[in-house]
Amino acid sequence: MKLPSGAPGSRILSVGEYRPARVVTNEEICQRIDSSDAWIRERTGIITRRFASDDETVAGMAAAASSKALADAGIEPDDVDLVVVATITHPYQTPAASSEVQHLIGASRAGAFDLGAACAGFCYALSVADAAIRSGTARYVVVAGSERMTDFIDPTDRGMAFLFGDGAGAVVVGPADRPGIGPVVWGSDGSQAAMITQEPTYLEVQRALAEGKTTPPVALRMAGQSVFRWAVTQMAPVARRALEAAGVDVGELAAFIPHQANLRIVESLAKSLGLGPNTVIARDIETQGNTSSASIPLALAALLEEGAVESGQYALLIGFGAGLTYAAQVIEIP
Ligand code: UT7
Repeated sequence: MKLPSGAPGSRILSVGEYRPARVVTNEEICQRIDSSDAWIRERTGIITRRFASDDETVAGMAAAASSKALADAGIEPDDVDLVVVATITHPYQTPAASSEVQHLIGASRAGAFDLGAACAGFCYALSVADAAIRSGTARYVVVAGSERMTDFIDPTDRGMAFLFGDGAGAVVVGPADRPGIGPVVWGSDGSQAAMITQEPTYLEVQRALAEGKTTPPVALRMAGQSVFRWAVTQMAPVARRALEAAGVDVGELAAFIPHQANLRIVESLAKSLGLGPNTVIARDIETQGNTSSASIPLALAALLEEGAVESGQYALLIGFGAGLTYAAQVIEIP
């Protein structure tokens, strides 16, 4: 058997984003739950979030972000070998969102699959893209994180309704003569699956309807306090391992771009890692809410737009969430 020869490394070439037009204030959220703007800001850092309209689909938003990233990288859609969409809110069990994205962006030669690792999904997908390029299986990969969290959140759930938003971020990953994406440190703790889970399942809904029973709609449920504790105690060691694996010192980081779960988690992790004043900390959650797998590429896009980071600098990414799953790696800013 022959094997292709891959590139010595891979790097993110460009970033694209899609933020739905509709901005939703804390006041609007509080029309459905007993809460306040002050409580939401203090406990999460969120000031506003975006909600997608009916025609802003998971695949459509991912495609818009991906096309933007391709145009920015100057890569033709026909040169894309693989499209990976990290998502947990595509409404179809099959076909996957990625095949629709592949078609919408005109990546006629590309393979496509969805990846479900919840809020860690983007970091998992980035690692898959890096491995594909280094093994020679692909030269250019589009990686998108896209979510319509609002389809799976009960607007009357006082523990969740204020936290989540919709949107998509995408990157183009291509070959490099040195590593621009560091080794991933990933893991999962399925024993804690009940901490963030969907209730009821589609199967339970189907069976209830077949028996003529009423059923609550499908929604995510979360043991918020337990997830919070897990994130602030367990994720800093994972982030440190990603730095060690890449051979990058914490002082060399220009940016820390963790999953935008809650600003208090972001700040707690930054403190645990001992980040210095020269490391920019992503705070996209303030205006975007928690967008699960879309939150890291959206936050990266925001830092680039603000001019807060420069091409070639190091950033540390870490995603964590339902599963429980987590993944971290160092990247070079595109
Ligand atoms: O992205 C996937 C991973 N997800 C996460 O990382 C989310 C992690 N969890 C969190 O971010 C936080 O747990 C939440 C933001 C969801 C909740 O914040 P918290 O500080 O953990 O709230 P809590 O559940 O511990 O409740 C604290 C207090 C309680 O009142 P008492 O008993 O202290 O009087 C709650 O009744 O806040 C009250 N409370 C609220 N008050 C106003 C709970 N929810 C609300 C609310 N508005 N919506």
